[in-house]
Amino acid sequence: MQLSKQHSTIGIFDSGVGGISVLKAINALRPDIDILFVADQAHVPYGSRPLEEVREFAIGITNFLLNEGVKLVVVACNTASAAALHELREIFPDTPFVGMEPAVKPAVNSSSSHTIGVLATPATFQGKLYASVIERFAHDAKVLTSTCPGLVEQIEAGNLNGSETISILQSALTPMLDAGADSIVLGCTHYPFVSDQIQSIVGEDVKILDPSPAIARNVDRMLPKKNDIQQSTGSIRVFTTGNLAKLTELLPCLLGSIPPVSQLKWHDGALARNVVRKNP
Ligand code: DGL
Repeated sequence: MQLSKQHSTIGIFDSGVGGISVLKAINALRPDIDILFVADQAHVPYGSRPLEEVREFAIGITNFLLNEGVKLVVVACNTASAAALHELREIFPDTPFVGMEPAVKPAVNSSSSHTIGVLATPATFQGKLYASVIERFAHDAKVLTSTCPGLVEQIEAGNLNGSETISILQSALTPMLDAGADSIVLGCTHYPFVSDQIQSIVGEDVKILDPSPAIARNVDRMLPKKNDIQQSTGSIRVFTTGNLAKLTELLPCLLGSIPPVSQLKWHDGALARNVVRKNP
């Protein structure tokens, strides 16, 4: 599906700051496109929640983004893609969605040892999407997995180099290296923010696969060409259901800039802007 020329605003969402890794890749490829980004930080982490619950969040966020006028939605979250991508396409048949799946195929293709490691959330590993990716692309490879307990929380707190972060990564990666893994899949959009830390643990000979550039290329294929865009300015607007001040503080480190950030609140499964009431 290709968007029409005047339609250029896209929506991107994640449980938290992880989706910013995808936003950056899209913005780098298409700086002309307007982006609305929703971080559902009231509910982060998604990865330890039941898939049905994550699905409800994904539907609520999509409704919000569509009401804001976006014409394409990027589910910049492996967990929400595992929980809801199929249903989102059914519920919103007129909206194009781009979702995430762990980059197992390129990892297996580039592995000489036929042994790969996958880092993702518990919910992602439980979903049918992961099972199907393994069945299709890794049936004759050895696949080691880790849910990296606590890593998403450390990244949300901005502790990219903290001792807790490094120790979570060491516990996840050591068994993979011991088994001979030579490719590591970042199956959670939070993890590219610690890819340097991962690389220094695994060494330069091990390949790290971040799917964001491929997702950005998918999105680009669905958008009108740059010179055809009529109404966009390349603006980025960020919304959070969590702590506005904390997110604003983290953005320079994660995104490299501070776009306008607004507060959203959940009410009965729907998202609304938090309107500050003034006394008469
Ligand atoms: N960034 C998300 C993902 O790609 C979710 C992490 C979480 O909230 O547990 O899976």
